[in-house]
Amino acid sequence: MVYVASTTAPVNIATLKYWGKRDKDLNLPTNSSISVTLAQEDLRTLTSAATDEGFTQDKLWLNGKEESLDSARTQQCLADLRGLRQQVEAQDPQAPKMSQWKLHIVSENNFPTAAGLASSAAGFAALVVAIAKLYQLPQDYSEISKIARKGSGSACRSLFGGYVAWEMGENLDGSDSKAVEVAPLNHWPNMKAAILVVSDMKKDTPSTSGMQLTVKTSDLFQERIKNVVPQRFEEMKQAIRNKDFPTFADLTMKDSNSFHATCLDSYPPIFYMNDTSRKIIRLVHSINAFYNETIVAYTYDAGPNAVLYYLEENESKLFAFIYKLFDKVSGWETKYTEAELNDFLKEFDQ
Ligand code: ADP
Ligand code: DP6
Ligand code: CO
Repeated sequence: MVYVASTTAPVNIATLKYWGKRDKDLNLPTNSSISVTLAQEDLRTLTSAATDEGFTQDKLWLNGKEESLDSARTQQCLADLRGLRQQVEAQDPQAPKMSQWKLHIVSENNFPTAAGLASSAAGFAALVVAIAKLYQLPQDYSEISKIARKGSGSACRSLFGGYVAWEMGENLDGSDSKAVEVAPLNHWPNMKAAILVVSDMKKDTPSTSGMQLTVKTSDLFQERIKNVVPQRFEEMKQAIRNKDFPTFADLTMKDSNSFHATCLDSYPPIFYMNDTSRKIIRLVHSINAFYNETIVAYTYDAGPNAVLYYLEENESKLFAFIYKLFDKVSGWETKYTEAELNDFLKEFDQ
């Protein structure tokens, strides 16, 4: 008898970035972080996990291709999940001895993998939750988030919807380094995210190695974790609770810039953004200046792709300029004349 469980996990995009580990085996971060989990139907991973007494090997197929499960982080996730399953089996002698059987895992991302759109977050969250379901584990999501964290740090935040904090914790064993909900998605229902895919290519420097280089070589990084992020963490939670978009947006943009500055300050430097990414940054600042109000925020993970946060009521104000600048005007309604848009965008002409 083959037992199967499936789940989807959405991508989460950090507004206060996790970058740096104090313990790389347990994936314990050097700072707390905050993110927004996208809606289930947008960017997401779909994972099915199957187990059967007759399986001879653990196997993973990612986007239709067989991938190795050998990485220490994946092995750690599987070992932790099997350990919890053993507790279920110890309590219920009738429960099938799944903890002893091999797993077959099939996973698909509906967006670019390893391109700075948090595939490791959705990917490991889905992997861990699918197996937790298969094993019928009784633990709550904060507890399960600690296992996802060991797969990829950012994955712990994808177990919750809406606004999520990853509290860095203090304990050496990571027992207090977990995700918690700041506010559910419906707390701020008009918040929207737009993903501008600048490149869907796999990045040169994976997040894991990139942040290790930053921790080792950047002086600016020390300033960031000691004197910048702790205060921002509190301010951002407050801005979310108050639904204060201008403050949320300013903190989000500043934190993206601060994180990319530490990448540039790494030695040798790491460049995740490209010319198009920078053009979008300038555009966002110009749009906010044009309206004399902060209506949109950008943030970039470890890659060139932009995520824009904005409130639904400002969608057409924002996209009039985005579509005009990137030549996709057809079918888009705007109250601006061609001349007004062109005038505004003059400075962006190459
Ligand atoms: P990203 O910016 O996309 O998160 P990372 O460098 O952090 O990029 O991680 C990319 C890696 O995450 C992939 O090379 C793969 O090992 C892992 N990953 C991505 N999607 C999945 C998935 N659905 N299931 C398991 N692992 C995944
Ligand atoms: C820039 O979680 O992908 O997206 O823990 O090594 O797997 P590992 O790294 P990962 O790093 C994410 C970095 C980031 C910021 C963030 O999501 O907070
Ligand atoms: Co990642």
